[in-house]
Amino acid sequence: MVSNHTETSVVVIGGGVSGLTLATLLRKSGVACAVLERRDRAYVEVRQRAGVVEARAVRMFERWGLADKLLGGPVAQTIDYRVNGVGRIFNLGGDNAAQGRFCTQQMLVNNLLRELIDGMGGDVRFSVADVTIQNDGDGRPRVGYSDSQGSHAIVCDYIVGCDGDRGVSRASIPDGVLTSYSHEFGYAWLAALVEAPVTGHPIMGVSDHGFVAQLPRGPQRSRYYLQCALSDGPEDWPDTRIWDEIRLRLDDDRIENAVVHDKDFVPLRSVVHAPMQYRNLFLAGDAAHLVPPTGAKGMNLALYDVDVLAEALLSAVRDQNRTALDRYSDTVLPHIWTYQDFSVWMTDTMHDAGDPALHGEFRRRTARARLDTLFDSPAAAGLHTDYQRGVV
Ligand code: APR
Repeated sequence: MVSNHTETSVVVIGGGVSGLTLATLLRKSGVACAVLERRDRAYVEVRQRAGVVEARAVRMFERWGLADKLLGGPVAQTIDYRVNGVGRIFNLGGDNAAQGRFCTQQMLVNNLLRELIDGMGGDVRFSVADVTIQNDGDGRPRVGYSDSQGSHAIVCDYIVGCDGDRGVSRASIPDGVLTSYSHEFGYAWLAALVEAPVTGHPIMGVSDHGFVAQLPRGPQRSRYYLQCALSDGPEDWPDTRIWDEIRLRLDDDRIENAVVHDKDFVPLRSVVHAPMQYRNLFLAGDAAHLVPPTGAKGMNLALYDVDVLAEALLSAVRDQNRTALDRYSDTVLPHIWTYQDFSVWMTDTMHDAGDPALHGEFRRRTARARLDTLFDSPAAAGLHTDYQRGVV
C-alpha cells in the first residue's frame, strides 16, 4: 500500500453540482483546490438529477465569467398550472437580463466536468473511499482517503462538505454543534423519465386524484411526477398504472403510453442544518439543507451557497481576511429560509388544492384561492415570478 501526503488550500468533498461549481470558481480565481468524489467520472456524468438553472444563478455565472461556457441559450419560461385538466399559463418572462437559461442539472454537471478538468486542469480525484476529516483546531485540517493506489492524506486550510445528505462531512461534526430543523409532508413523488417530450408548456397539475407534473428533459424526453404514498414502490406502479394515472390526473385521454426509462420514489421533506460551518469545515448544498422538489430550488440553493462561499474563501486565501468566511452561515441562511418557505408554499398549494382526502375540503378551497390569486393579482404574480427566478 502506498501512503501519500499532499497539500492544497481547499479540499472539497463531493463532486456533485455544489462541489464542481465551487472548485471551478476557486480554480478560475487561482485558489488551489482538490475535489474528492466517491463515484467515477462516467457515473457522475450520467446521474439524473432534477432542476434547471434559474435567473439569479445565470447572473452569478455571468459575474464569474462562466455563463457562456456552462449554460445553454435563453429559455421562454412558462408554467401551465392545470386544475383538473383546465390549463392557465403563468408567464415568467420579463426583461431578458433576468431570464433563465436552459440548462438542466445534468447538463451543468457535464459542462463543469469538462471546464474544470479538461479545460482548466483541475484536481478532481474520482473513486475515492474511506474519507476522514481532521478539523479539531489543532494544526491545519487534514483529509484522509483511500483509492486503488493506497491511502492518502491532504493537508489543507479549509474543507468544504459538498457530499450531500448522507456524506461524511456533516457526520464529522461533533454532536451538539448543529441543530437540525425538519418538516415531513407525509407523501412522496414517483418520478418517471419517459420517452415523450413536453409538447406545450411545462405542467404543474392539481387534480382531485393527486398532483401530477410534466417537465422537459431534452427534445425527446420528459419527466412526470405523480404524488403517491410514502410506502409506494416500483411493484405498486407498473408502467400501465403510471399512464392511466397521468391521463386521469390531467383529464386527457389523448395521452398515449410511451417507454418509461426509470422510476424513482422521492419522499417530500424539508431540512436545514445550522450553522453551516464548524471551525474550518463549511457545508454547502444538500449536505446542509434539503427542499421538496416542488419549487425546483435544490440545485439553485446549492449554487447560491457556493457563490457566497467562493467569494469568502477567496478573501481568506488571497487577502488573509476571514471576516466573510466566519459569517458564511449567517449570510446564506436567511436566503435558505426564504426559499424553504417558497418550497413549502408550492408543495402545500399544489397538493392541498388536489385530493380532498389529503387535508380536507377547507384546505382544498384555500389552496385553490391561492392559485387563483396568481392569475388575478399583478402583485401576487410579480412576487411569484421573483420567487421562481430566485431574486426575492
Ligand atoms: N466521499 C466522497 N464523495 C461523496 C461521499 C463521500 N463519503 N458521499 C457522497 N459523495 C458525493 C456523491 O457521490 C455526489 O457526487 O457527493 C456528491 C453530492 O452531490 P449531490 O448529492 O448532487 O449534492 P449537491 O452537489 O449538494 O447538489 C445539490 O440539490 O436538491 C438537490 O438535486 C439537487 O443534487 C442536487 C442538489
